[in-house]
Amino acid sequence: MIIGVLHEALSGETRVSATPDTVEKLIGLGYDVVVESGAGSSASFSDEAYVAAGASIGDPAGADIIFGINAPSAAQLDRLREGTTVVSLVSPALNPDLVADLARRRITALAMDAVPRISRAQSLDVLSSMANIAGYRAVIEAANAFGRFFTGQVTAAGKVPPAKVLVAGVGVAGLAAIGTAGGMGAIVYATDPRPEVADQVTSLGGKYLEVASGEVEVSATGYAKEMSDDYNERAAALYAAWVPDIDIIITTALIPGRAAPILITADMVASMKRGSVIVDMAASNGGNVEGTVKGEVVVTPNGVTIIGYTDLPGRLAAQASQLFSTNLVNLMKLMTPGKDGVLVIDWDDVVQRGITVARDGEVTWPPPQVQVSAAPAQVSAERAIAEAAPVKPPMSSARRFTYVGIGAAILLLLVALSPASLRVHLTVFALAIVIGYYVIGSVHHALHTPLMSVTNAISGIIVVGALLQIGHGNTAITILAFVAVLLASINVFGGFAVTRRMLSMFSRS
Ligand code: NAI
Repeated sequence: MIIGVLHEALSGETRVSATPDTVEKLIGLGYDVVVESGAGSSASFSDEAYVAAGASIGDPAGADIIFGINAPSAAQLDRLREGTTVVSLVSPALNPDLVADLARRRITALAMDAVPRISRAQSLDVLSSMANIAGYRAVIEAANAFGRFFTGQVTAAGKVPPAKVLVAGVGVAGLAAIGTAGGMGAIVYATDPRPEVADQVTSLGGKYLEVASGEVEVSATGYAKEMSDDYNERAAALYAAWVPDIDIIITTALIPGRAAPILITADMVASMKRGSVIVDMAASNGGNVEGTVKGEVVVTPNGVTIIGYTDLPGRLAAQASQLFSTNLVNLMKLMTPGKDGVLVIDWDDVVQRGITVARDGEVTWPPPQVQVSAAPAQVSAERAIAEAAPVKPPMSSARRFTYVGIGAAILLLLVALSPASLRVHLTVFALAIVIGYYVIGSVHHALHTPLMSVTNAISGIIVVGALLQIGHGNTAITILAFVAVLLASINVFGGFAVTRRMLSMFSRS
């Protein structure tokens, strides 16, 4: 069979549904590939590169299978023949007319945005691939509009505090945004109605802000469900408390088939500092932020930039094309069991059934519902309330200075009242607290374990002390000294072993 790769008709679309790399893989599956001239030019793939990969450049309209990022335009559809299979984004829930039109034309339509969220189908999931890129790009757009560093720095010209980033909605895009912002050195906070994402946030170095509510988000499809008024009120209180101290907000909250929930109100935006940036990733669905303009950048009267781009993956065209087209190759592997260039739709397979939205002149959308194996277990509301420990908003500077002042006063009093020999120890103790606070606080969370393991070496001092005691003559002291040397040595060498193991996880072999 022949696969035809369309030049995208949608204005502003920079991606392409096959790259020279994936063309080679499709040919390996037994297909011939025809690429429309210039199809990859916006993503930096030349016609020559496709030819070198084994494709031919020509009119894809006569192909058996048509690849596209977006569904073909009406003009493109007019040129396809009956029985063609179209593989692209379709958004069947939002475009029932398009699906009916495809069925009427007796075109088989495989909607890549209808891949069920089950582990087996992850390699075909273009929405996740694109959301991952979009989450990354959202942080890059925010950094571009933000007038400061993300990472904190102490320079000769002064101290720069790290940027504080809040990610609302921890799905694929949210996780990518957390990882990217954390990697750039920002302090990252994140919230989501699904408490099971807390571990993922923490493992990326972020801090999970839980909305204290009895409601636990559970869905059978792997997507979010609409939250109750109670949850929304509590979430609004959490945002209102945190937002004034946050520099960058990235919102990704999505409820499939519905308008995006408003999370950040105009009042909250007004409470933000001048120069703050919001990237509203849900802009195409109505937005999570009051004041977002779809596809535009707006600056509010108090100097907050709200970015509502809806083409974030396309702003990384080569990368997005590579991932999208790899998802298509994975679909072709699934649907070409003989590796002989013949596409076979297995109607009993939930993935293939799920994405087939039109076939043999009939609309086959929606498919029977698939129970997602990865869906979280139902948690009782009581247990959720019991476990829901509200995260406090950050301590204000005034309160922090008060606490430091009280601590310093107590220490001074202790030093003044202590005998001279104790004063030295107390001074060393106070300095150790200050130095320890700044040293450990400046080390990335992920490196705390190796740091602590290395500091185990400090117990080498015990080895020195015990060695001095070992020849004391008293058997009890000798035994105790021996045990001390043994334990301290385990601590020191064990610490180095743990550090080595941890650091090897960060090195690229
Ligand atoms: P996802 O379904 O993986 O994640 C959405 C998350 O939002 C889920 O974790 C869900 O629990 C959470 N959520 C739902 N209701 C919420 C609420 N009231 N408060 C806080 N969180 C809530 O979706 P994915 O793939 O990460 O996409 C996220 C968003 O990014 C979507 O709106 C999608 O349309 C958008 N997107 C935007 C692009 C752009 O160019 N602007 C490109 C790709 C995706």
